[in-house]
Amino acid sequence: MAFADELAAGLQARPRAVAPKWFYDAAGSELFERICELPEYYPTRTEFALLDRHAEAMAELIGPRAEIVEFGAGASRKVRVLLDALRSPRRFVPVDISGEHLAAAAARLRSDYPALDVCPVVADFTQGAPALMPAAGRRVGFYPGSSIGNFDPDDALRLLQRFAGWLGGGGLLIGVDLVKDPAQLHAAYNDERGVTAAFNLNLWARANRELGADFDLAAWAHSAFYNPPASRIEMHLVSRKAQTVRFGGQRFEFAEGDSVHTENSYKYTVEGFQALARRAGWSPRAVWTDAARRFSIHWLEPRGE
Ligand SMILES: C[S@@+](CC[C@H](N)C(=O)[O-])C[C@H]1O[C@@H](n2cnc3c(N)ncnc32)[C@H](O)[C@@H]1O
Repeated sequence: MAFADELAAGLQARPRAVAPKWFYDAAGSELFERICELPEYYPTRTEFALLDRHAEAMAELIGPRAEIVEFGAGASRKVRVLLDALRSPRRFVPVDISGEHLAAAAARLRSDYPALDVCPVVADFTQGAPALMPAAGRRVGFYPGSSIGNFDPDDALRLLQRFAGWLGGGGLLIGVDLVKDPAQLHAAYNDERGVTAAFNLNLWARANRELGADFDLAAWAHSAFYNPPASRIEMHLVSRKAQTVRFGGQRFEFAEGDSVHTENSYKYTVEGFQALARRAGWSPRAVWTDAARRFSIHWLEPRGE
Protein backbone atom coordinates (compact mmCIF):
# COMPACT_ATOMS: atom_id res chain seq x y z
CA MET A 1 0.00 0.00 0.00
CA ALA A 2 1.22 3.53 -0.73
CA PHE A 3 1.97 6.02 2.06
CA ALA A 4 -1.25 8.01 1.50
CA ASP A 5 -3.47 4.92 1.67
CA GLU A 6 -1.71 3.44 4.72
CA LEU A 7 -1.71 6.74 6.56
CA ALA A 8 -5.42 7.29 5.89
CA ALA A 9 -6.26 3.71 6.94
CA GLY A 10 -4.12 4.05 10.08
CA LEU A 11 -5.81 7.29 11.11
CA GLN A 12 -9.26 5.78 10.55
CA ALA A 13 -8.45 2.63 12.57
CA ARG A 14 -9.08 2.41 16.32
CA PRO A 15 -6.67 2.49 18.02
CA ARG A 16 -4.96 4.74 15.45
CA ALA A 17 -1.62 3.33 14.27
CA VAL A 18 0.89 3.90 11.44
CA ALA A 19 3.78 1.49 10.69
CA PRO A 20 7.26 2.83 11.60
CA LYS A 21 8.62 2.12 8.12
CA TRP A 22 7.00 5.42 7.04
CA PHE A 23 9.41 7.40 9.25
CA TYR A 24 12.15 6.76 6.73
CA ASP A 25 12.25 9.28 3.95
CA ALA A 26 15.61 11.06 3.47
CA ALA A 27 14.92 13.42 6.40
CA GLY A 28 13.82 10.54 8.66
CA SER A 29 16.93 8.52 7.81
CA GLU A 30 19.12 11.55 8.68
CA LEU A 31 17.29 11.96 11.98
CA PHE A 32 17.82 8.27 12.75
CA GLU A 33 21.57 8.77 12.17
CA ARG A 34 21.48 11.56 14.77
CA ILE A 35 19.61 9.31 17.22
CA CYS A 36 22.43 6.76 16.90
CA GLU A 37 24.89 9.37 18.18
CA LEU A 38 22.87 10.42 21.24
CA PRO A 39 24.43 9.68 24.63
CA GLU A 40 21.11 8.18 25.83
CA TYR A 41 20.77 5.84 22.82
CA TYR A 42 22.79 2.87 24.08
CA PRO A 43 21.73 0.30 21.38
CA THR A 44 23.98 1.58 18.56
CA ARG A 45 27.07 2.00 20.77
CA THR A 46 26.57 -1.36 22.43
CA GLU A 47 25.97 -3.23 19.18
CA PHE A 48 29.05 -1.62 17.59
CA ALA A 49 31.15 -2.66 20.60
CA LEU A 50 29.89 -6.25 20.28
CA LEU A 51 30.67 -6.29 16.57
CA ASP A 52 34.15 -4.87 17.20
CA ARG A 53 34.92 -7.40 19.92
CA HIS A 54 33.56 -10.48 18.18
CA ALA A 55 33.99 -9.74 14.47
CA GLU A 56 36.59 -12.50 14.04
CA ALA A 57 34.31 -15.15 15.54
CA MET A 58 31.38 -13.88 13.46
CA ALA A 59 33.51 -13.93 10.29
CA GLU A 60 34.56 -17.50 11.07
CA LEU A 61 30.90 -18.58 11.31
CA ILE A 62 29.96 -16.70 8.13
CA GLY A 63 32.84 -18.23 6.19
CA PRO A 64 34.86 -17.03 3.18
CA ARG A 65 33.56 -15.53 -0.08
CA ALA A 66 30.12 -14.75 1.36
CA GLU A 67 27.40 -12.51 0.01
CA ILE A 68 25.99 -10.34 2.82
CA VAL A 69 22.39 -9.16 2.51
CA GLU A 70 21.60 -6.44 5.04
CA PHE A 71 17.90 -5.85 5.73
CA GLY A 72 17.08 -2.23 6.66
CA ALA A 73 20.69 -1.25 5.99
CA GLY A 74 20.34 2.52 6.56
CA ALA A 75 23.83 4.07 6.42
CA SER A 76 25.48 0.60 6.31
CA ARG A 77 27.96 1.58 9.01
CA LYS A 78 27.85 -1.54 11.16
CA VAL A 79 28.51 -3.90 8.27
CA ARG A 80 31.93 -2.28 7.76
CA VAL A 81 33.14 -3.95 10.96
CA LEU A 82 32.10 -7.31 9.50
CA LEU A 83 33.47 -6.58 6.04
CA ASP A 84 36.85 -5.75 7.58
CA ALA A 85 36.92 -9.13 9.35
CA LEU A 86 35.49 -11.32 6.55
CA ARG A 87 37.71 -13.28 4.20
CA SER A 88 37.18 -12.19 0.58
CA PRO A 89 33.49 -11.16 0.84
CA ARG A 90 31.99 -11.37 -2.66
CA ARG A 91 29.04 -9.05 -2.58
CA PHE A 92 27.18 -6.72 -0.24
CA VAL A 93 23.45 -6.22 -0.84
CA PRO A 94 21.98 -3.46 1.33
CA VAL A 95 18.16 -3.54 1.24
CA ASP A 96 16.24 -0.47 2.41
CA ILE A 97 12.98 1.36 1.88
CA SER A 98 14.73 4.77 2.05
CA GLY A 99 16.12 5.02 -1.50
CA GLU A 100 18.16 8.24 -1.47
CA HIS A 101 19.87 7.42 1.80
CA LEU A 102 20.60 3.88 0.55
CA ALA A 103 22.17 5.16 -2.69
CA ALA A 104 24.43 7.60 -0.81
CA ALA A 105 25.56 4.89 1.63
CA ALA A 106 26.23 2.46 -1.25
CA ALA A 107 28.37 5.08 -3.05
CA ARG A 108 30.48 5.59 0.10
CA LEU A 109 30.93 1.82 0.49
CA ARG A 110 31.97 1.36 -3.15
CA SER A 111 34.64 3.97 -2.78
CA ASP A 112 35.93 2.53 0.53
CA TYR A 113 35.73 -1.15 -0.60
CA PRO A 114 36.66 -1.11 -4.32
CA ALA A 115 36.97 -4.91 -4.51
CA LEU A 116 33.46 -5.46 -3.16
CA ASP A 117 30.42 -5.79 -5.42
CA VAL A 118 27.90 -3.43 -3.75
CA CYS A 119 24.36 -4.00 -5.07
CA PRO A 120 21.73 -1.91 -3.23
CA VAL A 121 18.07 -2.90 -3.51
CA VAL A 122 15.33 -0.38 -2.72
CA ALA A 123 12.49 -2.46 -1.31
CA ASP A 124 9.93 -2.76 1.47
CA PHE A 125 10.70 -6.27 2.67
CA THR A 126 7.36 -6.50 4.49
CA GLN A 127 5.68 -6.51 1.06
CA GLY A 128 7.47 -9.51 -0.44
CA ALA A 129 10.89 -10.77 -1.42
CA PRO A 130 13.41 -8.08 -2.41
CA ALA A 131 14.67 -8.54 -5.98
CA LEU A 132 17.99 -10.26 -5.25
CA MET A 133 20.32 -11.46 -7.98
CA PRO A 134 21.43 -15.10 -7.94
CA ALA A 135 23.77 -15.41 -4.93
CA ALA A 136 27.45 -14.65 -5.54
CA GLY A 137 28.55 -16.95 -2.69
CA ARG A 138 27.08 -18.30 0.50
CA ARG A 139 24.28 -15.80 1.14
CA VAL A 140 24.15 -14.60 4.74
CA GLY A 141 21.68 -12.15 6.27
CA PHE A 142 22.56 -9.23 8.53
CA TYR A 143 19.76 -7.50 10.44
CA PRO A 144 21.24 -5.18 13.07
CA GLY A 145 19.72 -2.31 15.03
CA SER A 146 17.09 -4.46 16.78
CA SER A 147 14.74 -3.59 13.94
CA ILE A 148 13.11 -7.00 14.52
CA GLY A 149 11.73 -5.33 17.68
CA ASN A 150 9.53 -3.09 15.52
CA PHE A 151 7.33 -6.09 14.74
CA ASP A 152 4.73 -7.74 16.96
CA PRO A 153 5.96 -11.23 17.85
CA ASP A 154 3.66 -12.87 15.25
CA ASP A 155 4.94 -10.59 12.48
CA ALA A 156 8.53 -11.02 13.71
CA LEU A 157 8.04 -14.78 13.44
CA ARG A 158 6.76 -14.48 9.87
CA LEU A 159 9.62 -12.13 8.91
CA LEU A 160 12.23 -14.52 10.32
CA GLN A 161 10.59 -17.35 8.34
CA ARG A 162 10.73 -15.26 5.16
CA PHE A 163 14.38 -14.35 5.74
CA ALA A 164 15.17 -18.07 5.89
CA GLY A 165 13.56 -18.54 2.46
CA TRP A 166 15.30 -15.54 0.90
CA LEU A 167 18.70 -16.52 2.27
CA GLY A 168 18.38 -20.00 0.77
CA GLY A 169 20.29 -21.95 3.40
CA GLY A 170 22.66 -19.25 4.68
CA GLY A 171 22.77 -17.99 8.27
CA LEU A 172 21.44 -14.80 9.82
CA LEU A 173 23.33 -12.41 12.11
CA ILE A 174 20.74 -10.38 13.97
CA GLY A 175 20.95 -7.68 16.66
CA VAL A 176 18.30 -7.80 19.38
CA ASP A 177 17.80 -5.30 22.19
CA LEU A 178 17.35 -6.85 25.63
CA VAL A 179 14.84 -6.34 28.45
CA LYS A 180 16.34 -3.96 31.01
CA ASP A 181 15.68 -1.25 33.58
CA PRO A 182 12.68 0.75 32.27
CA ALA A 183 14.39 4.02 33.30
CA GLN A 184 17.25 3.33 30.90
CA LEU A 185 14.78 2.46 28.14
CA HIS A 186 12.74 5.57 28.83
CA ALA A 187 15.84 7.79 28.56
CA ALA A 188 16.86 6.18 25.25
CA TYR A 189 13.56 7.15 23.59
CA ASN A 190 13.13 10.55 25.32
CA ASP A 191 16.49 12.22 24.70
CA GLU A 192 17.16 15.64 26.13
CA ARG A 193 17.88 17.23 22.75
CA GLY A 194 14.50 16.19 21.34
CA VAL A 195 15.97 14.31 18.36
CA THR A 196 13.69 11.29 18.90
CA ALA A 197 10.73 13.66 19.14
CA ALA A 198 11.75 15.23 15.80
CA PHE A 199 12.12 11.74 14.29
CA ASN A 200 8.61 10.82 15.47
CA LEU A 201 7.16 14.11 14.21
CA ASN A 202 8.87 13.59 10.84
CA LEU A 203 5.95 11.28 10.06
CA TRP A 204 3.64 14.31 9.93
CA ALA A 205 6.32 16.49 8.28
CA ARG A 206 6.68 13.84 5.57
CA ALA A 207 2.90 13.70 5.07
CA ASN A 208 2.92 17.49 4.66
CA ARG A 209 5.77 17.32 2.12
CA GLU A 210 4.62 14.31 0.11
CA LEU A 211 0.86 14.33 0.42
CA GLY A 212 0.12 18.02 0.89
CA ALA A 213 -1.32 17.26 4.35
CA ASP A 214 -1.77 20.14 6.80
CA PHE A 215 -0.47 18.64 10.06
CA ASP A 216 0.47 21.46 12.47
CA LEU A 217 3.60 19.96 14.08
CA ALA A 218 3.33 22.27 17.10
CA ALA A 219 -0.08 20.76 17.89
CA TRP A 220 1.37 17.28 18.46
CA ALA A 221 3.48 15.87 21.31
CA HIS A 222 6.03 13.04 21.19
CA SER A 223 5.24 10.32 23.73
CA ALA A 224 7.42 7.25 24.37
CA PHE A 225 7.02 4.88 27.31
CA TYR A 226 7.74 1.32 28.33
CA ASN A 227 4.81 -1.10 28.38
CA PRO A 228 6.00 -3.81 30.82
CA PRO A 229 3.41 -6.55 30.11
CA ALA A 230 4.21 -6.35 26.39
CA SER A 231 7.99 -5.83 26.96
CA ARG A 232 8.00 -2.99 24.48
CA ILE A 233 8.66 0.70 24.13
CA GLU A 234 5.71 2.39 22.47
CA MET A 235 6.00 5.64 20.56
CA HIS A 236 2.96 7.78 19.95
CA LEU A 237 2.08 11.20 18.57
CA VAL A 238 -0.50 12.79 20.85
CA SER A 239 -2.84 15.57 19.81
CA ARG A 240 -2.36 18.63 22.05
CA LYS A 241 -5.84 19.99 21.20
CA ALA A 242 -9.02 19.27 19.25
CA GLN A 243 -8.04 19.59 15.60
CA THR A 244 -8.80 18.56 12.02
CA VAL A 245 -6.16 17.38 9.57
CA ARG A 246 -6.75 17.17 5.82
CA PHE A 247 -5.10 15.33 3.00
CA GLY A 248 -6.11 13.43 -0.11
CA GLY A 249 -9.57 15.01 -0.01
CA GLN A 250 -10.26 13.52 3.45
CA ARG A 251 -10.66 15.07 6.92
CA PHE A 252 -9.39 13.45 10.09
CA GLU A 253 -10.72 14.68 13.45
CA PHE A 254 -8.70 14.46 16.67
CA ALA A 255 -9.71 15.34 20.22
CA GLU A 256 -7.17 16.65 22.72
CA GLY A 257 -5.20 13.63 24.01
CA ASP A 258 -5.98 11.37 21.02
CA SER A 259 -2.94 9.33 20.17
CA VAL A 260 -1.51 7.77 17.02
CA HIS A 261 0.70 4.75 17.73
CA THR A 262 3.80 5.15 15.53
CA GLU A 263 6.30 2.53 16.70
CA ASN A 264 6.84 -0.46 18.93
CA SER A 265 10.27 -1.56 19.99
CA TYR A 266 10.00 -4.98 21.60
CA LYS A 267 12.69 -6.00 24.06
CA TYR A 268 13.60 -9.66 24.40
CA THR A 269 15.47 -11.90 26.79
CA VAL A 270 18.17 -13.97 25.08
CA GLU A 271 16.12 -17.11 25.73
CA GLY A 272 12.88 -15.47 24.56
CA PHE A 273 14.44 -14.43 21.25
CA GLN A 274 16.04 -17.83 20.74
CA ALA A 275 12.64 -19.47 21.30
CA LEU A 276 11.10 -17.17 18.66
CA ALA A 277 13.93 -17.96 16.23
CA ARG A 278 13.43 -21.71 16.77
CA ARG A 279 9.70 -21.37 16.06
CA ALA A 280 10.65 -19.61 12.81
CA GLY A 281 12.80 -22.56 11.72
CA TRP A 282 16.21 -21.31 12.83
CA SER A 283 18.80 -22.94 15.12
CA PRO A 284 20.45 -20.41 17.44
CA ARG A 285 24.16 -21.30 17.23
CA ALA A 286 25.89 -18.40 18.98
CA VAL A 287 25.01 -15.31 20.95
CA TRP A 288 27.13 -12.39 22.10
CA THR A 289 26.06 -9.92 24.80
CA ASP A 290 27.79 -7.06 26.61
CA ALA A 291 28.69 -7.38 30.32
CA ALA A 292 25.65 -5.31 31.35
CA ARG A 293 23.43 -7.47 29.10
CA ARG A 294 21.97 -4.46 27.33
CA PHE A 295 22.09 -5.85 23.79
CA SER A 296 22.58 -9.18 22.02
CA ILE A 297 23.74 -10.35 18.61
CA HIS A 298 22.60 -13.82 17.55
CA TRP A 299 24.00 -16.13 14.90
CA LEU A 300 21.19 -18.30 13.54
CA GLU A 301 21.52 -21.17 11.10
CA PRO A 302 18.65 -22.82 9.27
CA ARG A 303 17.41 -25.86 11.18
CA GLY A 304 18.83 -29.06 9.83
CA GLU A 305 22.23 -27.65 8.89
C1 LIG B 1 16.31 1.53 12.99
S1 LIG B 1 17.02 1.81 11.41
C2 LIG B 1 18.46 0.75 11.47
C3 LIG B 1 19.53 1.13 10.51
C4 LIG B 1 20.81 0.29 10.59
N1 LIG B 1 20.56 -1.07 10.14
C5 LIG B 1 21.36 0.28 11.99
O1 LIG B 1 21.40 -0.78 12.60
O2 LIG B 1 21.78 1.34 12.48
C6 LIG B 1 15.91 0.89 10.37
C7 LIG B 1 16.27 0.91 8.90
O3 LIG B 1 15.41 -0.02 8.22
C8 LIG B 1 14.78 0.59 7.12
N2 LIG B 1 13.45 -0.01 7.03
C9 LIG B 1 12.43 0.10 7.91
N3 LIG B 1 11.38 -0.63 7.51
C10 LIG B 1 11.75 -1.23 6.34
C11 LIG B 1 11.07 -2.10 5.43
N4 LIG B 1 9.83 -2.51 5.67
N5 LIG B 1 11.72 -2.50 4.31
C12 LIG B 1 13.00 -2.06 4.06
N6 LIG B 1 13.68 -1.24 4.90
C13 LIG B 1 13.06 -0.82 6.02
C14 LIG B 1 14.77 2.08 7.43
O4 LIG B 1 14.73 2.88 6.27
C15 LIG B 1 16.07 2.25 8.22
O5 LIG B 1 17.16 2.51 7.37
